[in-house]
Amino acid sequence: MKIPLHKPFWGVKAEAAVIHAMRTGVGTADGPESALMREKLKQITKAKFAIPVTSCTHAMEAAVACLGAKTGDEVIVPSFTLASTATAAMVRGATPVFADIDPIHFSLDPQDVMRRITKRTVGIMTVHYAGFAGGYFDELMALAKKAGIWVVEDAAHCIGAQYKHKALGTFGVAGALSFHGTKNVAAGEGGSILTNSRALSDAMEIFRSIGTDRMAFLAGKVSAYSWVGEGSSFMLSDILAALVNIQLDQIDRINKDRNQIASEYTKAFQSFAGKIQLPIVPKGMTQPNWHIYALKFANVSMREAFVKAMRAKHIEVSTHYMPLHASPMGKRLAGARMRLPVTEDVAATLVRMPIYAGMSKTEREYVVLTARKTLQAL
Ligand SMILES: Cc1ncc(COP(=O)(O)O)c(C=O)c1O
Repeated sequence: MKIPLHKPFWGVKAEAAVIHAMRTGVGTADGPESALMREKLKQITKAKFAIPVTSCTHAMEAAVACLGAKTGDEVIVPSFTLASTATAAMVRGATPVFADIDPIHFSLDPQDVMRRITKRTVGIMTVHYAGFAGGYFDELMALAKKAGIWVVEDAAHCIGAQYKHKALGTFGVAGALSFHGTKNVAAGEGGSILTNSRALSDAMEIFRSIGTDRMAFLAGKVSAYSWVGEGSSFMLSDILAALVNIQLDQIDRINKDRNQIASEYTKAFQSFAGKIQLPIVPKGMTQPNWHIYALKFANVSMREAFVKAMRAKHIEVSTHYMPLHASPMGKRLAGARMRLPVTEDVAATLVRMPIYAGMSKTEREYVVLTARKTLQAL
């Protein structure tokens, strides 16, 4: 048996939705499926504005650009993330400043963030790792408020996740969702901006539409559209929007399956507490979406042995993330001597387990059995 790390929840309904969009759509972005996607996302997240875009990376770029970040400004970002979080901060010449994470939920550590705030800091990009608001999220938001700086949520992992009954991605001035092929809702590529600010939403609509007031034209507010500002082309194809929409309709089922797998894993692995740290749902996560199920090993050699053994049994597990501050680009920004002890430890010892909606009982049992045997032998 071969078990992938992730698998999109694409069945006949998804295929039919794509074919329908191809046969009936306008063959461009911002057609009927994109309009529907806005409404579905607004309903799920309760955000005032949901703007379909080509990726979470682009959602963050649009937000940072429209918040006015510029050369000389600093934006605090985690190092334990994909390069997107940092590159988005850099879109208008701002400098990303790396901060450490907490060792339990792997989200920004507010104490470390505080130490890195300078006169030049304009904002924080926070990642909700695995779809969890880390245990210090309230503290981080309070800190940003006190410092008078914005928070953009990198909510790439978060579709369907709620903290204190509120969707992740709707706490900051803007949030960015991902519908990349590995996500709970997968369209190959795709994303959405979420915001409750009309002014920011208006600015981002223009930015993602090549600096034109195309959306105002489509809404009948102007008789022709023209070039009105700076921008780029981040408009999502209606065909991909159709693929997102059909999965948004199934989001409860998708996340219920993932919850089930997570609870089976936790039950099966909790007796190995000395060797691994299990994921803990942070307090206040009223609706987790289990985008990632990660085990943190007691040391690097145990992690390597586990990964090797699982792969030998054709179970795809993966490590996560290569710390940005230790990458060639990160070193150019932060200096080769920068140390983020928690980030470095987590990155060296974490393993992501397979988790996807529709994972069969046989597949789940095979993973659990193989992982338990491997853990016993470590
Ligand atoms: C934390 C984080 N941010 C951003 C992204 C980028 O998302 P996208 O591929 O939609 O740009 C990812 C993708 O995996 C991610 O894990």
